Amino acid sequence: MILPDKDIYILGIESSCDETAASVVLNGRKILSNVIASQADFHMQYGGVVPEIASRMHLDSVSQTVAKALSDASMKLDQIDAVAVTYGPGLVGALLVGVNCAKGLCAVSGKPLVAVDHLRGHIAANYLCFEELEPPFLTMLVSGGNTMIVSVKDYCEMEIIGRTLDDAAGEAFDKIARVIGLGYPGGPKMDKEGQGGDISKYSFSVPRTPNKMDFSFSGIKTNALNMINESRMKGTDIELKDFTASYQHHIARYLYDHVALAVAETGVRKLCLAGGVSANSFIRNYFEEHKKEYDLELYYPKLGLCTDNAAMIASCGYYEYINGNRAGLDLNARPSLRF
Ligand code: KG4
Repeated sequence: MILPDKDIYILGIESSCDETAASVVLNGRKILSNVIASQADFHMQYGGVVPEIASRMHLDSVSQTVAKALSDASMKLDQIDAVAVTYGPGLVGALLVGVNCAKGLCAVSGKPLVAVDHLRGHIAANYLCFEELEPPFLTMLVSGGNTMIVSVKDYCEMEIIGRTLDDAAGEAFDKIARVIGLGYPGGPKMDKEGQGGDISKYSFSVPRTPNKMDFSFSGIKTNALNMINESRMKGTDIELKDFTASYQHHIARYLYDHVALAVAETGVRKLCLAGGVSANSFIRNYFEEHKKEYDLELYYPKLGLCTDNAAMIASCGYYEYINGNRAGLDLNARPSLRF
């Protein structure tokens, strides 16, 4: 891809789940502003995201969020080159808020509209942290709703070479965290709980899949649930710290083993982690400790850019924009978008 020799400013908008976010990014790499209005505390009382409430809360905050992103970047809408927005996958009502806001901004300003796949956005978070990072590379994308290994051949050309056949890694964290009483969102709470725990005290099953690069998390989750229930029936609660440490270590190793296969098969040694679950310290530590085995060149986004944000959408939108991809003002939300 030939990069332009003039500066390009992209306004990114993200509202696929429970964060309303807007950001201005320069040339796909430099964050000029990054505003996130999180609803997580509100959904916490329900133990998970309530879609209807999420849509209404996005509506309440989207205008101020976009206005703040522009003012934090000291920019006006007419100085922006294009508006990039997440159009899927995600919750339909939530996506519609961001998509319609972006369409409105483009309709009044005449600026081009760029549609961004949320998952490609997660991958682009790495471009914001590593100026030198260029495709080709592999990405292990682990988020609340998806788990996959993606071969990134060029900025806008990607192929999924392994994916989960059932639950996402994030669900394996969130569900078990809820059952053991850690609450929502479970991933970060389990991460904290497991610090200093014994990683080998409990052992879990290793699911097999016909394509060895595919994942399956429902078996690991059920295995963990059965252990918790058996302990409760015997009247002896599991040792929370050791249990969460062992569980997370197991998931980290399971993910790593799949990535190792992908590296061996493709010969690509540059590996990016992406998505909310890639913030997990057990996963990061395991990958760091084992990267020498395959001579991996390892990249992971800063913690704040692993979970949903609009800077990653603006970065991804930049590459779509210079690749000539434009959306019409008839753009619709695609809750089940697959790339
Ligand atoms: O990428 P993300 O913000 O949203 C999606 O696009 O899905 O990911 C949210 C997921 C949740 O399942 C959350 O529990 C998990 O990321 N997560 C973590 C950690 N921080 C967030 N999981 C494990 N350890 C963490 N430190």
